Amino acid sequence: MASSLPISPVTAAVPSKSNLPLRNIPGDYGLPLIGALKDRLDYFWLQGEEKFYQSRIEKYQSTVFRVNMPPGPTIAKDSRVICVLDQKSFPILFDVEKCEKKDIFTGTYMPDLSFTSGYRVCPYLDPSEDRHTKLKQWCFDVLAKNGRNFLPEFHKAIDESMVLWEKDIAGGKRGDVSGEVKQFAFNFLFRAICHHDPAAPGPGSLGRDGGPGASLWALPQLAPIAGQTGLPHVVEELAFHTVSLPSILVKGKYDAIHNFVKTYATEALDMAEASGIERNDAIANLVFFLGFNAYGGFNILFPEVVAFIQSAGKDLMHELHEEVKGAVTDGTVTLQALENMPLLKSVVYEVFRFKPPVPYQYARAKTDFIIENHENSFQIKKNELLYGFQPIVMHDPKVFDNPDEFVPRRFMGPEGQKLIKYVFWSNGPETEKSTVHNKQCAGKDLVVTMARAFVAEMFLRYKDYTLEIEGAGNAAKLFFTALTKA
Ligand code: HEM
Repeated sequence: MASSLPISPVTAAVPSKSNLPLRNIPGDYGLPLIGALKDRLDYFWLQGEEKFYQSRIEKYQSTVFRVNMPPGPTIAKDSRVICVLDQKSFPILFDVEKCEKKDIFTGTYMPDLSFTSGYRVCPYLDPSEDRHTKLKQWCFDVLAKNGRNFLPEFHKAIDESMVLWEKDIAGGKRGDVSGEVKQFAFNFLFRAICHHDPAAPGPGSLGRDGGPGASLWALPQLAPIAGQTGLPHVVEELAFHTVSLPSILVKGKYDAIHNFVKTYATEALDMAEASGIERNDAIANLVFFLGFNAYGGFNILFPEVVAFIQSAGKDLMHELHEEVKGAVTDGTVTLQALENMPLLKSVVYEVFRFKPPVPYQYARAKTDFIIENHENSFQIKKNELLYGFQPIVMHDPKVFDNPDEFVPRRFMGPEGQKLIKYVFWSNGPETEKSTVHNKQCAGKDLVVTMARAFVAEMFLRYKDYTLEIEGAGNAAKLFFTALTKA
């Protein structure tokens, strides 16, 4: 582990006065339109995401620099940002006193409001807006009210997928991980909060189209910043990065989920109305919380978890199996049992550190101020857009030893515990609380619990597994080829 941990997240970002040399922010935006187009081609095509940042860090000898972020023209009006790519400067993005978070959830562009029934949903709101306070508080209340449902519904939903995997493998086929995550991630969430099974036959049934439908609805919203889609580069450039895809393409998918929430989430919607939120606003927001934030996040996270554990090898799997078996006393994964799994907890934090599911964060300067990286200080001007890419920040060698190695035990023991505050996946330090006053993920605690529950369910049932990964990036597909039962 790193021997000294000199940085305190949040407070470190904005020093009142800096002793470090003031440096002009290196980098430039190039000519209007052309500069943005060139950077976009570098990002998606010529260099790829990681090299895009790393080559500039090397060129400028700085983790703070100017660059254009995709999509650029014609989707975004202004693509100029200041990158903050180290543990010391990045936490400025959490400082809602100094920065505004209005309409920048997806970055330099914002999807049309027709994707969300005409409402600006909570993630696009700044904490200074009254609707943010009301909607986020309501989100907390709904999660708390249904707190007891999540683990049992998750168990039920993943069990359905496990049965299918085992049947397919026994029949000489592969167990479709990517396909089944779409089923159990969607179903446990909607069952837990709407108290009705979206997959069950009957009025408003989504069948097996709930998760896949939500993914399709998200696609045009995220297409401007999506790379490695498996499509030829030229097609990706023209269809995804040059023009905004209209919501009409996915209206049917959205309407089906909207109708399900409107019909069955009556308890949550009544709670919203009681707290002064208009019912249609609440429906649009609940569809977004569940179908975009939560389902979208888990759909990325769960496959990453099984992939990283496989990359660490069978010994780790057997240790996890032993730990889970020892902590789960009556065959049921409970909150109490999850607390008694130190290795499993560390593995989950290491996945979040290594590859956070939502890697991009933006914030707009409300005033002029100074930020620091490890070497220099920099002047930020009012209205400039700051941007951070978490995978580089959480691989900062000043904080994490062997940052590019997946170290399952990294967060264990007293020294490991000290590192938890440098894990930023939720748009805030892991040791901070999500509140109505900040922009940290409203589902932060639930997400960590469910990631742990996923690993626990896997290793309660299996001793180990073998995974095949086809394709890369957004086009990657995962399959189990073997599951060794406990
Ligand atoms: C915000 C990640 C699950 C509700 C965020 C943000 C991140 C994030 C990074 C901040 C975005 C930004 O402003 O830059 C994730 C991941 C998840 C997940 C990776 C799953 C693996 C959930 C769940 C819920 C939820 C389960 C609740 C049902 C929200 C809400 C916001 C948010 C409401 C906006 C917070 C605000 O406006 O202050 N999430 N999230 N998320 N998330 Fe999550």
